[in-house]
Amino acid sequence: MANSTVMARIFQRKTVAQIQAEHASGELKRSLGALNLVLLGIGCIIGAGIFVLTGRAAAQFAGPAIMLSFVITGLLCAFVALCYAELASALPVSGSAYSYTYASMGEGAAWVMGLLLLLEYGLAASTVAVSWSGYFVSLMADFHITVPPSLTAAPGVPVVDASGATIATGIINLPAVVVVGLVTLLLIRGVKESATANNIIVFIKLAVVIAFIAIGWRYVNTANWAPFIPAEIPARPPGTDMDIWHQTGRALVAVVTGDNTFKYGLGGVIHGAAVIFFAYLGFEAVSTAGAESRNPGKDMPIGILGSLVICTVLYIATSAVLVGIVPYASLDNAAPLAVAANRIGLPWFALLVKIGAIAGLSSVMLVLLYGQTRIFYTMSRDGLLPKSLAVVHKKFQTPWINTIIVGVAAMAAAGFMSLDALGDLTNVGSLAAFTLVCVTVIYLRSTNPELVRPFKTPLYPLTPILGGLMCLVLLGSLMSTPDTRKFFVIYLVIGIVVYFVYGIRASKLSRGAA
Ligand code: ALA
Repeated sequence: MANSTVMARIFQRKTVAQIQAEHASGELKRSLGALNLVLLGIGCIIGAGIFVLTGRAAAQFAGPAIMLSFVITGLLCAFVALCYAELASALPVSGSAYSYTYASMGEGAAWVMGLLLLLEYGLAASTVAVSWSGYFVSLMADFHITVPPSLTAAPGVPVVDASGATIATGIINLPAVVVVGLVTLLLIRGVKESATANNIIVFIKLAVVIAFIAIGWRYVNTANWAPFIPAEIPARPPGTDMDIWHQTGRALVAVVTGDNTFKYGLGGVIHGAAVIFFAYLGFEAVSTAGAESRNPGKDMPIGILGSLVICTVLYIATSAVLVGIVPYASLDNAAPLAVAANRIGLPWFALLVKIGAIAGLSSVMLVLLYGQTRIFYTMSRDGLLPKSLAVVHKKFQTPWINTIIVGVAAMAAAGFMSLDALGDLTNVGSLAAFTLVCVTVIYLRSTNPELVRPFKTPLYPLTPILGGLMCLVLLGSLMSTPDTRKFFVIYLVIGIVVYFVYGIRASKLSRGAA
């Protein structure tokens, strides 16, 4: 291919009219109103982030200022949500961010978005599965059923008991693998996620979180909130012996958490914000239902922003109660909310928290894996991925080959990767995807000013600029961990090579078939 042809192909885009026409002919029923969309959002948002990662973020990075981390990330997500709301109201289609970039910045950017969404949805499902496993093992222990500890964590990850002592080293996280397998089977069978089932699970999750705040509030010891931002712990200088550093370092936690990440201080609050960013993921999943919304111009912004605002308020309150009950340094464990409930002497409530978390996390996994299969499906129909990924099963009417591939990959990640690595990589992919969404709003406003936008983000261009910049700051904080940085760069390079070797030639737009 001549250079000029390659450039033309990278930047070739579907027109907005083309995207709208593709979906106008779609079969999906326009049945979702504003309340359904808000519930859909909450169903996908409340999950591993608040039930598990908050503990790690408070213990290792932010201390009691984890509340502030939640405010920072809530603000960032509000800016991004406004951008999503504008795009979702103007382009009410199913492919979400992938379709928005295809219609604006062209095929090359859409491919990169596809790569980022694979981290956002695929790895997020595995992260949630590992968190599910933590609550499941803890619930089983309440019934005196012991899952062999080495089968509850990824290879090399230490398994600790309630007192914090290491009792084994992980070989595979078997419960996480099994639960992803079960969800995959459900998706192949084609669970019509009935609105009623989703609403019941959302109700259980909301009830557990609100009860945690309402009951826990009375047991808060405000002394646990001080110091609000613990002093920064300097990183262990490279080459310093761990024991020597232990004797001279200011806190044990510096030894436990490794060398390069920020701990406490303002840097810790920002790193904490990047870690708990995971807790907010899901508000954008509302945009994937664009084609099924009754009145997208009005209801999409309500669904996206409404679910985000409700969850932000609940998160700040939950984290305040959590670090008010349990001293932050002891929160780094698999089921921190249940630990808090036990701490205040309410084992029955700890049991309810565990059951609520297990039910709630299951539905998040379902939505995330569903989202991933539908993104692959759309990319395959565009010719960017092999046709087999869009093959629909005759009986079940689901993209079964696609679902098996996604499920097996998510099972492998859930079984063999640590929660920290999974959470951080999901966050990196999602923050990069959100940055691209902010850029898309600016790009589309300048190249397509006449496009009808039922909802326009206020304070333009400040909103997308601030949203994009805040994403980049958190991204920078996560990339300070060398393993995360290496994985992300290698992943993107391989992904882009695949585009030049395969996608660019196979794309329907290139072949004039779209
Ligand atoms: N926000 C979702 C969770 O925390 C992805 O599980």
